[in-house]
Amino acid sequence: MERTILRLADNDPVNDHLDAFTALLAPEGRALLDAVRDTAPADELAVATRLRREHPAGLVSAALGQARLRQRAAAKFGTGDAGRMYFTPNGVEQSTRASVAAYRAARMRELGIGSVADLCCGIGGDAIALARAGIRVLAVDRDPVTVAAARANMAALGLEDLVEVREADVTEVDTAGFDAVFVDPARRGGRGRIFDPEAYSPPLSWAVEAARTAPHAALKVAPGIPHEAVPGDAEAEWISDGGDVKEAVLWFGTAPGTVRATLLPGPRPLLSRGLPDPAVRPVGRYLYEPDGAVIRAHLVAEVADALDGGLVDATIAYITADELRPTPYAGAYEITDQLPFNLKRLKALLRERQVGTLTVKKRGSAVEPEELRRKVKPQGPNAATVFLTRVAGAPTMLVGHPAQGLSRRLIDPQRPEELRPPPA
Ligand SMILES: C[S@@+](CC[C@H](N)C(=O)[O-])C[C@H]1O[C@@H](n2cnc3c(N)ncnc32)[C@H](O)[C@@H]1O
Repeated sequence: MERTILRLADNDPVNDHLDAFTALLAPEGRALLDAVRDTAPADELAVATRLRREHPAGLVSAALGQARLRQRAAAKFGTGDAGRMYFTPNGVEQSTRASVAAYRAARMRELGIGSVADLCCGIGGDAIALARAGIRVLAVDRDPVTVAAARANMAALGLEDLVEVREADVTEVDTAGFDAVFVDPARRGGRGRIFDPEAYSPPLSWAVEAARTAPHAALKVAPGIPHEAVPGDAEAEWISDGGDVKEAVLWFGTAPGTVRATLLPGPRPLLSRGLPDPAVRPVGRYLYEPDGAVIRAHLVAEVADALDGGLVDATIAYITADELRPTPYAGAYEITDQLPFNLKRLKALLRERQVGTLTVKKRGSAVEPEELRRKVKPQGPNAATVFLTRVAGAPTMLVGHPAQGLSRRLIDPQRPEELRPPPA
C-alpha cells in the first residue's frame, strides 16, 4: 500500500514541475540560467547537448525553458525585470503588463490605500507594481508552481518585505483588515479564453461579493464585458496602452456609476458625461478613429463633442469633422477622397497617386485588409490610408493620410529630414 502511494506521488505532474522549478533557484540552476540567458531558439539544441554533459538533462531543459519565458516576458516587464524574474507559461500569458499594473497601483495609492489582498496573484505582475507603489500586499494563488515563481520574483526584485505570498484557495482567505481587495481571476480554460464572467476562476459574482467586504476594491475583467454586467455600485474603467485595449477594471469604493476610459502612456483619463449618441453627418475634411478604450467605454460621444464632429454612420465608431483638433483620444486622418466600395476605382486612384504603401483600416466591412492589398497591388513612392466602412449605410472607401503625423512632421525641427520628399 505504502509503495503505491509513493509511486503516485513520484508521478504527480505538479510535484515534477515544482521540483524542476525549485531546482532552478539553487546555485547550479542559477548558474545554468545565466549560461543560457541569451540563447537564440535556433541554438537551443546545440547548447542543450553541450550543457547536458555536465548537468542533469531535466535541469538544462528547465533553464532553457525559463530563458525562453523571460524573453517572451520582456514585452510586458521590460528586459531588466524580465531577465531577473521567474515565469510559468500561463504566468507570462496571464500577467498584467507592468505599465498597466503601475497605473492601477498609483491610482490605489492616490485613494489612500496602504494594504491590498491580491487574490489570484499569478507570478506577481500586480503584486510587484503594488509593492513598488509602497503598498503592503498579501499575494494569494492556489497553484504551487505559480506561488513558487511569485515568491522567487519578490526575492529577485527586493520586495519580500512588502509582499507575503501565500498558497491558498482565495475563497478561503480572510481579507479583514486590508484597505483593498484586488482580484484578477483566471480567464483562460483548457480551451482558450473564457468570455462568460461566471466561468472565470473564481467567478465574477464571487469577486464582486469579496469586493463589497473591503473599503476599496478593484476587479480586473475582460475588456469585452458588457456594460449591463457592471454592478450598479461599481465604477467601470477601460484601459488601453499604446492604443491596444488591455483590460476593464471594476472599482468599488470610488464613484459608483462612473464610466471612464484611461489611455496609457499618460494616464489620460476621459470620463463619461452621459451624452447622447452623436448625430450622423456628411464626411468632412477629417476622420477621427477613437482609441479602443474610448469605444469600449461607450465614450465616442464625449470625443465627438470635443471635436465638434459627428458620426459617418449611426452604427460605426468613426467621427468626422471639418477641423483638425489635437486629441489624445483619437487618431486624426485627413480625407482626400470618398468612393463607393469599388476595387477598380480604388486601384485606379492609387495608381494615379503612385501609392505603394497602403494602410488598410476597417469598421463595418467584411473585407480582409491583406486580400484588398493583394488585389489593388499598390506600387509607387507614396503612402495612403484607406478606410473600408459604411457612410450613412452605404459601403464606402475613404482615402487619406494621418493628419497628426503630418503636422507633427512639419513642425518637428529635430527631424528636418522628414520634410524631404521621399526618394523616387
Ligand atoms: C490572471 S492570473 C493572475 C495574474 C496576476 N494578476 C499577474 O499580473 O501576474 C489568475 C490566477 O488565478 C489563480 N486562481 C484561479 N482560481 C483561484 C482560486 N480559486 N484560488 C486561488 N488562485 C486561483 C490561477 O492559478 C492564476 O494564477
